[in-house]
Order: sequence, then C-alpha cells, then structure tokens
Amino acid sequence: MDQAQTLDALELREGLEGLSPQLIRILYRRAPLRRPVSDPQRLWTMFENASLVVTAWKAGRLVGIARVLTDGVMYSYLCDLAVEPDVQGLGIGKRLMRHVQDRCEGTELVLRSTLGRFHKHEGLKAVEDAWVVDPR
Ligand SMILES: CC(C)(COP(=O)(O)OP(=O)(O)OC[C@H]1O[C@@H](n2cnc3c(N)ncnc32)[C@H](O)[C@@H]1OP(=O)(O)O)[C@@H](O)C(=O)NCCC(=O)NCCS
Repeated sequence: MDQAQTLDALELREGLEGLSPQLIRILYRRAPLRRPVSDPQRLWTMFENASLVVTAWKAGRLVGIARVLTDGVMYSYLCDLAVEPDVQGLGIGKRLMRHVQDRCEGTELVLRSTLGRFHKHEGLKAVEDAWVVDPR
C-alpha cells in the first residue's frame, strides 16, 4: 500500500475505545518509545488520566497513538507520539500531529523530542527556556 492509500484507509479515533494496555505496549515496544510498558496498570493510568488520546487505525489495526494533557485554554503537553515501524514515513505521524494541533488550538502546545526534522515540518520551533524536574 502506498502513502496515499494508507492515509485514505486511515481512521482516527479519540478516546480509549478499542485500546488496551497490551495493544499500547506492543506499539510502544515496536515504535520504539520508552515508556513503562512492563507495568500495565501504570501504562493504562497514563491513558485514563490523559485529556486527549488520539489513535490511528488501519483495517482495524492500531498503527499510531498520540496522548495529550491540556487545560483547554492555555497550555497543552503532547506526551507521546508513536507509529508502528512498518508504516512509519507514510504521513501517519503528521496526521496525528495535525489532529492534536487542531484540538489544542488556542493553547501553547509543548512537547519533548529530539526529532527536529519531523517537528519543523509541523511548524514547531525549539525553545531554550524550558526546565524539567526529573521524577524522584
Ligand atoms: C516520530 C514518529 C511518530 C513519526 O511518525 P511517521 O508516521 O513515521 O511520520 P510521518 O510519515 O508523518 O512524517 C515523516 C517525516 O518525519 C520524519 N521523521 C520520521 N521519523 C523520524 C525520526 N525518528 N527522526 C527524525 N525525523 C523523523 C521523516 O524524515 C519525514 O520527513 P521527510 O518527509 O522530510 O522525510 C515515528 O517515527 C515514531 O513512532 N518514532 C518512534 C517514537 C518517537 O520517537 N516518538 C517521538 C517522541 S514522543
């Protein structure tokens, strides 16, 4: 399937419907995205407590996920973005990113990532005035 066919067949969903810790773990392991995949309860809590979960499905298969914390008016934080490796590079990540940007419109959308090239595509700019407290 080429890029246009993949994107035509892509279904974006919001919420937890159809998701499970097992499905998320498989996707994160394969993408790969380092998250607490060996602790299903913690992994699921990350999703239950998220403000916005966007999933991408191709022929009933979960192929991408974005997870956001937002107050809806001021700040949003894109916590995770991941796409299955066999369909990476076909525009699914961009599609998820654009959906998140639309849903978070009017807020400052923040994320942590070293994927400069990918994010520049989407009009993001790197900032130097961000500080992080590591969890204890
Ligand atoms: C980052 C990620 C979500 C992109 O999804 P995708 O569906 O492959 O991306 P798209 O097809 O929409 O966009 C492809 C563009 O992003 C760039 N890109 C994709 N993965 C990249 C990476 N790892 N590093 C840098 N650029 C990347 C591609 O080069 C391409 O740009 P081009 O058109 O100039 O060649 C996917 O590669 C992934 O799941 N990576 C592992 C998890 C991760 O690092 N997530 C981000 C941190 S939360």
